[in-house]
Amino acid sequence: MNDATPPYVPAVLDPNRKVVVAIDGPAASGKSSTAQWVAEKLAFRHVDSGALYRAITAARLRAGGQSDEWSEPSVLAVARQVSLRPTERGFIPLIKGESAEGEIRGGEVTREVSRVARMQAVREWVNSEVRRVAEGHDVVVDGRDIGTVVFPDAQLKIFLVADPWERAKRRLVQRLSRRPTDAEIAEETERLVQRDARDATQTVQARDAVLIDTTYLTQSEQVERIVALARGVTSRRGATSPVDGEAGSR
Ligand code: DC
Repeated sequence: MNDATPPYVPAVLDPNRKVVVAIDGPAASGKSSTAQWVAEKLAFRHVDSGALYRAITAARLRAGGQSDEWSEPSVLAVARQVSLRPTERGFIPLIKGESAEGEIRGGEVTREVSRVARMQAVREWVNSEVRRVAEGHDVVVDGRDIGTVVFPDAQLKIFLVADPWERAKRRLVQRLSRRPTDAEIAEETERLVQRDARDATQTVQARDAVLIDTTYLTQSEQVERIVALARGVTSRRGATSPVDGEAGSR
């Protein structure tokens, strides 16, 4: 747990207000997969805000030019090619109406995305897109600034952290599907620490977030913790369940 001032939580929440679970944390802390799993268990929708920054970066890469000369207006212009398609449990980002999952998770996008995510006008575009798709639904949203900027009044805020070595190891196991060597983990740790530094200004723990260090937790343990906290919120929402689309005071 952290030393944040506990938020004022009323005993019974407004039954018409949709629940937002905000999950923030650094790269490879397991935010997106955890958020997806939590959303599934709660029957909430999942919104991966990082995927939008990635899709905009991929669209800008397609447009060409030296990345260190990308202007903010040129990035904002291609952001309009990006949209979110609703799926049963969340959203997939599309570029010009088509899925580009492999492209947005690739090395080139991963290298350039921090540059795009630092542009204020781009952040505003992403934030309004995330708020728009979340409206009228119970959601689990993951990113870097969800609990501080995008949904500062989210009923549950989680900040996930893990030791960089452990994060690097998990990432490699996922990527290589085998046990990585210590040298490989050391190299990946170095890359992650550099990414953390590039994303540091955006990655902010809200004062009322629950800090969960996942270094010694399995993914299912972290999911269970968050689900239990979220059930604490939904149980205070009151007996009446709002009809989708009618509610939405945020
Ligand atoms: O979580 P990720 O690796 O998919 O995020 C991609 C990039 O987007 C990374 O540079 C951090 C940035 N990001 C951000 O600045 N704010 C968010 N809410 C989500 C992601």
